[in-house]
Amino acid sequence: MPIRRKNFPINRDEELFTSCTPRVAAAKRLWYERAFTPIARNCSVSSPFFSGRSKMPQPSRDEIFEDLDPEPRLLMGPGPVNVYPRVLRAMSVPLQGQFDPQFTQHMAQTMALWRGVFRTRNTWTMMIDGSARAGIEACLTSMVAPGDKVLVPIFGRFGHLLVEIARRTRGDVVSIETDWGAVFTPDAIEAAVKAHKPKVVAICQGDTSTTMLQPLAEIGAICRKYDALLYVDCTASLAGNAFETDAWQIDAASAGLQKCLSGPPGIAPVTFNERVEEVLKPRKHVEQGIRPPGIVDGNGPIIQSNYFDLAMLMDYWGPKRLNHHTEAASMLYAARECARVVLGEGLEQGLERHRLTSAALRAGLEAMGLALFGDATHRMANVTGVVIPGAIKEPDKVRSEMLEDFGIEIGTSFGPLHGKIWRIGTMGYVCKRQNVLRCLASLETVMRRNRFAAPAGAGVDAAVAVYGQEGA
Ligand SMILES: Cc1ncc(COP(=O)(O)O)c(C=O)c1O
Repeated sequence: MPIRRKNFPINRDEELFTSCTPRVAAAKRLWYERAFTPIARNCSVSSPFFSGRSKMPQPSRDEIFEDLDPEPRLLMGPGPVNVYPRVLRAMSVPLQGQFDPQFTQHMAQTMALWRGVFRTRNTWTMMIDGSARAGIEACLTSMVAPGDKVLVPIFGRFGHLLVEIARRTRGDVVSIETDWGAVFTPDAIEAAVKAHKPKVVAICQGDTSTTMLQPLAEIGAICRKYDALLYVDCTASLAGNAFETDAWQIDAASAGLQKCLSGPPGIAPVTFNERVEEVLKPRKHVEQGIRPPGIVDGNGPIIQSNYFDLAMLMDYWGPKRLNHHTEAASMLYAARECARVVLGEGLEQGLERHRLTSAALRAGLEAMGLALFGDATHRMANVTGVVIPGAIKEPDKVRSEMLEDFGIEIGTSFGPLHGKIWRIGTMGYVCKRQNVLRCLASLETVMRRNRFAAPAGAGVDAAVAVYGQEGA
């Protein structure tokens, strides 16, 4: 009899033995049984499977069966951030079937709560299972048919991601670019919309790679003037910076939980209005195996992804409850709780907390003799770019010492900014005074060891002074 190691459900992997020839299955079974006896664990039985065929360094057999016990970290990078404990608790409630009336109620409640976060009356405010880019992909794949013109203003890495996703939908993508560290004026966007006459304008609100925040209040009206739809990726900015879906005439938007919403990555809230619904209707095709009688497919081009088909997802989230995927229930509970946390604090109060905390962090960094990155009038309120001083020869060493010695994660950046800036996040649950002070004090110590001596205590003192001035 195999001895079952604590926490390891040996029988779960029955398919491991059925998806191969009987000879291989017998060999696998022999190894499995040996590996799970205490004696075998102490001798040199090696797994034919766990090492795979890869040349990558492999974990030892003891390591792979270790209990999961990650070091607690303070996540002050550009996201993910530490998850609000209430959200973790919500994720561990018992699961229900996806058509359990109570569960569908929870789905409806989640939609209602997220209307509040997105500041919209859009009926279609729902969750896409997957990381934040699943939300982007669902919106763009469903809104853009092959050959449709898409305009993407790029001011950082995530603009390039929008181009990449729009191209894969076979859209005819045109882009305009500005320097990393700057944003677009409404005039520049209007000129491009006028010149290219896109069907969809896709843009990021906060591009975490550069820490810049694109003003959007006027872009919706520009798009309406030229009959374009406006899609916004607000993954990194939502709930830390003002975002007004309806008031700014944004047709579709998507986000994630792992930034200012203090949740884990894995589900992407989206919202879209009737203008988008009109574009989806002719593209609607219902999967054969779940098709109720009387359904007539649209005569437009089929949406190229089944998983990200917003038209079919409307039937799943709407009163028809037509089966699509199996909802990621624990992630739904997380999304519901994240919205409750944010709305419970009050959106305005949350924005103010992000503004104040960033102001304190920035004052501290400047007092330490560091320069902040990018256009000062268009910084996100939840992540700060810091120019790495020339005296620091190994910027990644500073980051790893922050992590190893102080348990604090800060970020680097991508593309032209890699090795040039660090990014320090103050988002959601992490966005508070003691974390700013911990970060500044630790950074001062680590930088001193790496040949950049800031005036002792200046960072913390300057941050404290900001809180003092504002009576916080
Ligand atoms: C602005 C923006 N958009 C999209 C993404 C992609 O998110 P994910 O990695 O969850 O797919 C990120 C992630 O950092 C982001 O900052």
